[in-house]
Formats: sequence, C-alpha cells, structure tokens
Amino acid sequence: MQRVHVWDLPLRVFHWALAICVIAAYISQNIGGNAMVWHGRFGLAVLGLVSFRLVWGFVGSTNARFINFVRGPGSIKAYLRGQWSGVGHNPLGALSVVAILGVLLALTLTGLFANDDILFEGPLYALVDKSLSDQLTKIHQWFEPFILSLVAIHIVAIGFYVWIKKQPLVRPMLTGWKEVPAASGSVIQEPERSRWGAFLFALAVALAVVFMASGQWVAPNAGY
Ligand code: HEM
Repeated sequence: MQRVHVWDLPLRVFHWALAICVIAAYISQNIGGNAMVWHGRFGLAVLGLVSFRLVWGFVGSTNARFINFVRGPGSIKAYLRGQWSGVGHNPLGALSVVAILGVLLALTLTGLFANDDILFEGPLYALVDKSLSDQLTKIHQWFEPFILSLVAIHIVAIGFYVWIKKQPLVRPMLTGWKEVPAASGSVIQEPERSRWGAFLFALAVALAVVFMASGQWVAPNAGY
C-alpha cells in the first residue's frame, strides 16, 4: 500500500462547509418565518463556496482540477467494467460532483431574485420586476427536489463504497490522505499540492461574488 495526499485542504474545508451550509439552508427554509433571513445567508454562503470551487477546479491541486476527473462516456464505461485506476474522483463520481455544483449554482442564482409574496425577498429582488421574480422563484422551488435527490444519492453512494466495497472514502475527505495499492510495485505519482497564490485568487473571486450577490451595493444594510 502507498499513502497518497489526495485532497488538498481548501477542497476539504470547501466540502464540509458546503455540506453544513446546504443542510442549514434547507432546515431554515423549512422553519420559515424569521428563519428565512438565515436561509438567504446560508444560500449566499453556498454561492460563495460553489464559486470558490469552480475557480479551484482550474487553479487547484491535481485532484481538484476538473480536467483531471471530468471524463466522457468511454471512461465511465471503462470504470464500470473495472478498468479504471486513479486516486481522485472516479469518472462516475465526477458526474455527481458536476451535477451537485450545477444544481447548487442554479438554486443560489435564482434565489437571489426570489420572493415569497409575504415577508422574504432575495437580496437582488429590487433589480427585477415582480413577474420575473415570480418565475425565478418557481425555478428555485423546482430545483429543490433535485438537490435533495443528488445529496441522498451522494450519501448512499459513499455508504456503498465504504460498507460494501470496503473503500474508506470518508477519512481522506477529512485528513487529505488515502491508502492506495501501489500497482505491481510501481509508485503512484504524488499529486501536485495547492499553492497560496491560487488559493488567494479563488478566495478573492468567491468574496467578490458574495458581495455582488448580497445586494449591499444596491441597498446597504438590507439584512445580508
Ligand atoms: C449536503 C451534504 C453534502 C454535499 C452538498 C456534498 C457535496 C460534495 C461534493 C460537491 C463533492 C465533490 C468534492 C469536490 O471535488 O469538490 C463531494 C465529495 C465527497 N463527499 Fe460529499 N457532500 C455532502 C455530504 C457528505 C457526507 C455527509 C459525507 C460523508 C458521509 C460526504 C462524503 C464525501 C466524500 C467521501 C467525497 C469524496 C468522494 C470521492 O472519493 O470521490 N459528503 N461531496
């Protein structure tokens, strides 16, 4: 066996922060009333995290980069036939990563302009007219079952790998390190680690997106 540093620290912090914020946004929305302010805040945090991850997918370390794990149908078929060897996301898991990020992006962007006809409005509601806001609100609500299903599939899939296939995937997402069999004695190339410059760039983009989305430049002190 060989010990490989598979997930960098920013990616791990991103993952667990995303899980917490998505669950918190869902719970606060179900509570409703005054908790909707928190739904909006957690939604903004999700948008910031997804923005960070999108940039990190281009400038992050080897296993974080989309180009190294998003694959076509040929690779997925090969993976299903057991002909895949790698240490990052497998080609099938990559589909769920892209789907989760895409649906969260659609949910958060539509939520910025949404309204509930009573008390709550998204932070950029003032930029659109009521009928467009109503349409975006419908799309926002329409995506909810998708994210719930994707998260459920994600957790069931992780459970399947951990308990049935005996692949401890959760610890690497906590520590960054994964034990992998070194095929026929060869050494697996250590993935490139993340760099500070790239991290600060991705963080700056994420903070800028959150600032723009928070509506502070439209109506300062609007509650976000
Ligand atoms: C709302 C809850 C969750 C969301 C939205 C979520 C989302 C994601 C995303 C987007 C990734 C891809 C990571 C990346 O490349 O950036 C991922 C990977 C992963 N998640 Fe989650 N996650 C959630 C909950 C969980 C939970 C509860 C667990 C543990 C039981 C978990 C375990 C993992 C693991 C182990 C991976 C890496 C899979 C691999 O080895 O390819 N996730 N998750």
